[in-house]
Amino acid sequence: PENMLFSYRGILYPITVSSPETLEALESFEARSDDVILVGYPKSGTNWLEQMVKELADAKYTEEEMKERINAEKKLETFQRLEFGDPGIYERMKQLPSRRIIVTHLKPDLLPPSIFQSKAKILVLVRNPKDTAVSYYHFYNNLPLLPSIASWDEYFADFMNGKLAWGSYFDHLVEWNKYIDNENIMTISYEELKEDPILGMKKIASFFGFSLCEEDFSRIAEKTSFKAMKEKSNETHGKFGDALFRKGVVGNWRDVFSKAQNEEMYRKFQDSLGGTKMAAKIKY
Ligand code: PPS
Repeated sequence: PENMLFSYRGILYPITVSSPETLEALESFEARSDDVILVGYPKSGTNWLEQMVKELADAKYTEEEMKERINAEKKLETFQRLEFGDPGIYERMKQLPSRRIIVTHLKPDLLPPSIFQSKAKILVLVRNPKDTAVSYYHFYNNLPLLPSIASWDEYFADFMNGKLAWGSYFDHLVEWNKYIDNENIMTISYEELKEDPILGMKKIASFFGFSLCEEDFSRIAEKTSFKAMKEKSNETHGKFGDALFRKGVVGNWRDVFSKAQNEEMYRKFQDSLGGTKMAAKIKY
């Protein structure tokens, strides 16, 4: 039903995780220059990237420091995405020790100005639009967070028109493309992480200045594999685990897209992003 979502500055969000008051309070968020900011349109592999980056960043902490960090995060209560929670969350986030790892689905024009003023590094995760669309379709239908959309065709039109939570996939990338040459921003794709997770993690570590040894990388690749993360998620999320960790592959769109939809998507992709550096990052 309609009332599962609210609209803020023309974009939809689920009422169970955020509110207009929270998004308004977000303006007051104070970024630190050493914050690690992870960005991805919904279903581009955000949870995977978050887990990888947390492991990469944590490799240098002692057990004692780790405990402190986990406790500080627990005290915050809701904190999974920058745009989640009650309006007081940004005040409470000041208590988190550095380096904070902050994840968001928002496009840059919706982020608080201090993120860009602070010189915090931002890693933008991208995934090809067809697999992203299929993944989001299943998410809409399998989690109580979002209203169900009965038919794929109806959903496809909503995806193309950006009438989904967090708005349009295409707008998201068009806006992030404006920042692609910024030295504090790096882009990485779901597909390249799938193809060679260790190489991907090495790029991420060098961007954020994490130093790790070879064994760390293989250990973290193992720990953040789809299989390992799905097993762990089933323990914590029960039946919703399957919806969060569904297939974890490249090319699942082939089972779902019609020929006409494939062509329509390609045209839309070219019209909005064709010729940009962002388009070159996306394994279409
Ligand atoms: S969310 O809810 O918007 O934050 O979703 P997000 O985490 O961005 O994306 C979910 C998709 O990422 C897949 N996933 C993974 N793929 C590969 N390896 C690992 N470890 C992994 N973890 C999650 C997840 O299965 C969703 O994609 P689909 O295509 O639906 O399987």
